[in-house]
Amino acid sequence: MSTVAEPIAPGRVVELTAKEEERFRSKRRRSDELWKQARQVIPRGVPSSFQDAAPQPVFIDHGKGSRIWDVDGNEYVDFHNGFGVMVVGHAHPVIVQAINERAARGTHFAQPVADDAVVATELARRFKQPQWRFTNSGTESTLDAVRLARAFTGRERLIKMEATYHGHHDSLMVSVEPPPELFGPPDQPASVPWSEGVPKAIVDLVSVVPFNDLEVLERTLQRHPDQVAAVIVEPVMMNCGIVLPDDGYLEGLRTLAHEHGALLIFDEVKTGVTIDPAGATGRFGVVPDLVCLAKAIGGGLPCGAVGGRADVMGTIDAHKVVQIGTFNGNPLTIAASKTALTSVLTPAAYAHFDALAEALEGGLRKVMSDYQLPFHPITLAARGCVTYRKERVRNYRDYLTIDKKYAYLSWLYQCNRGVLMAPGAEENWTLSVQHSEDDVLRYVRNFEEMAKALTS
Ligand SMILES: Cc1ncc(COP(=O)(O)O)c(C=O)c1O
Repeated sequence: MSTVAEPIAPGRVVELTAKEEERFRSKRRRSDELWKQARQVIPRGVPSSFQDAAPQPVFIDHGKGSRIWDVDGNEYVDFHNGFGVMVVGHAHPVIVQAINERAARGTHFAQPVADDAVVATELARRFKQPQWRFTNSGTESTLDAVRLARAFTGRERLIKMEATYHGHHDSLMVSVEPPPELFGPPDQPASVPWSEGVPKAIVDLVSVVPFNDLEVLERTLQRHPDQVAAVIVEPVMMNCGIVLPDDGYLEGLRTLAHEHGALLIFDEVKTGVTIDPAGATGRFGVVPDLVCLAKAIGGGLPCGAVGGRADVMGTIDAHKVVQIGTFNGNPLTIAASKTALTSVLTPAAYAHFDALAEALEGGLRKVMSDYQLPFHPITLAARGCVTYRKERVRNYRDYLTIDKKYAYLSWLYQCNRGVLMAPGAEENWTLSVQHSEDDVLRYVRNFEEMAKALTS
């Protein structure tokens, strides 16, 4: 299949990228200085390697509502939103008030507080899982979910999808971005560690299957009878653009997992409370055995939660599974989380996300059609992305056929014209309750300018 956009002259994307990189650098001198200083004491000059993306990190000074300002004074409509955390928008008045009130009464005791159960009750209502425990990140949520599944089933093997990211603990740092020379055949992908330092013994406990392929999953389950503790899936893959599940796929996963005595874990760290009040569970109507949450549930503070079936979570009651953490249920996080979930992310907020998504998607489709660009947009309430290919992407290997140069050029175009997207070609946008229609149309206008330049 051709991945070259036909109305676009060969070399045009490279030429425009060079121009935009120069414009980017000329307006980000202070970021560059800070980055150089930081590299003296921080590897790659950033607190998390995800933040070091080409052309260089943009250092942020502050944010308010839908906007953020960098240290050079450039203002942006924030489409990054802290990798999908800030669906409440920046410095939302009621969240600020909740944090201030809690801070004035003490921020940490490592003792339970009354609001723990309020947040758990709201998560139970949304995700249809009766029991919850708190963590401090998505990584901790999937780590605990995997441990719960292994303890409950008495099995050790995990099945994950090729190219899903579930956090940075050893058990799931497998085949996150496997290179083609290592990833093996599509009907039996290899298990490829994502980082040095992950023990081979742990990698060998993970079988990898393609997303949207129940046949390969079934054969994999059959190859490992009575060994698989859980199938873990990001129900909409959101770390290689956005990859939607086929109709019936999530239901099929649950049926197959259960037929083979395994649990189904949804990693809703990105989808939870952003694509629907109840994430993919709500949007697609499939309730798994365990759900992992983080990011947007915390009102902007470090957070995480794992919820599940009463019998599975009962392994904690029975003192079989040790689920612990000094900061679990931190009162400051719980205060922000309670306010975000009960006062900000209301039904009206989701109606607002849908209206913004419609405006964005409609605008982008029109530009793509006017300029005959072989791309397509995907929107799911607060989330969305442009896929730089005409046909739908169904799995990682489809995704690899896309020319990443377009995503990078688009990132530069947006950044240079006041819209900050999450860094990385594989990323998508997250909107907030404080974004207006005019904010999102800025993205469309910038996209049209790029379309015009690409096709001229
Ligand atoms: C789907 C998914 N799961 C888990 C994680 C890990 O979350 P955290 O960065 O909070 O540890 C991420 C992070 O981006 C994610 O996208």
